[in-house]
Amino acid sequence: MRDAAGVRRSLLAWYRRNRRSMPWRETSDPYRIWVSEVMLQQTQVATATPYYERFVARFPDVEALARADRGGVLALWSGLGYYQRARHLHEAAGIVVREHGGRVPSDPRAFAALPGVGRYTLGAVLSMGFGLPWPVLDGNVARVLARLMAQPLAVKRPVDARQLWALAEGLLPRARGGPGGSGGPGEWNQALMELGALVCTPRAPRCEICPLRTHCRARALGVQDSLPPVVARRSPMRVRRAVACVRHRGRLLVVKREGAHLNGLWEPPGVELERGEDAGAALAERLKPLGVRARLVDSGARDRHTITHHDITVEVWEGKLREPAPRAGARHRWVAAAGRSIGLTALGARLARRAKAGSKPAKARARETLSRRASPRA
Ligand code: ADE
Repeated sequence: MRDAAGVRRSLLAWYRRNRRSMPWRETSDPYRIWVSEVMLQQTQVATATPYYERFVARFPDVEALARADRGGVLALWSGLGYYQRARHLHEAAGIVVREHGGRVPSDPRAFAALPGVGRYTLGAVLSMGFGLPWPVLDGNVARVLARLMAQPLAVKRPVDARQLWALAEGLLPRARGGPGGSGGPGEWNQALMELGALVCTPRAPRCEICPLRTHCRARALGVQDSLPPVVARRSPMRVRRAVACVRHRGRLLVVKREGAHLNGLWEPPGVELERGEDAGAALAERLKPLGVRARLVDSGARDRHTITHHDITVEVWEGKLREPAPRAGARHRWVAAAGRSIGLTALGARLARRAKAGSKPAKARARETLSRRASPRA
């Protein structure tokens, strides 16, 4: 970029006039910035904000988070998806307390060694939390850079990502910045993201009001609408599941999920079904080791959601207890509909709410679709 200083000046001036207020932008506490940046990965600002507020109110510093038990952390994350982020953050807080005296390390090697910290989080926390010259690259920043340079670079392609990181690095202001980091790398990184969110949008970018319009090569060439290039997405795998909603005194039976997805979160006992497999029989088998014997009936309701490359349809079955309810154990519990004390999966939370509304006539409930098509999470 020929006039990098001019680009910085114009964008920073625009950012100061147009920045949206967000709770993590009003703090310089590296811990809070870290929490926010972890939440904001794969999650929209409007969705993340109330989760962030609850999280930092409950765990105001690294020590508080490190002291918490995992279930409590997951409970506050419940509904936000990508739960591995929460497990890593919790584990990392423990390491910060044990190995770094409870202070988020500003040393790049030490911070990068923490669980869940990738190049993006490293750049975000070091620049915004410590004023250090580290770049960030997310979808918004990548789009701004690809257009500014008129380069057909897609952040999802590793070779292109490498070039985009180099571009981000090249534009970064080196000085720490003034009071509150003004003009420094943290403010610059936020400004790039904000431009991507508000002006240099994926579709119909608002070039006429863009502070970088005189610098932008894509605009000069009229190619902004075709940058960055679209990369073909894998089509999602279709998965069929069934869950058994067994209720007792207004409470819903939930079990702890284990495995790659949603590990440690709770939802009604469920099974993944092979093509043509009988859901009722499979669910009865699933309930056996819990000591639950129930008459199972297909409610007709279906829940559809998408979790990273999996398009999941869940058949919702109702279970009527045949025998006294077994007591809660390490792996199964009875939860109230509104209970926030336990980390439910998003599906679990929907089913718990539905259980509460379970007094509706069966006919009204049948064929109801608990649809969540657009969600990238569970
Ligand atoms: N997305 C990721 N990080 C962000 C931040 N700090 N502000 C706004 N949106 C973001």
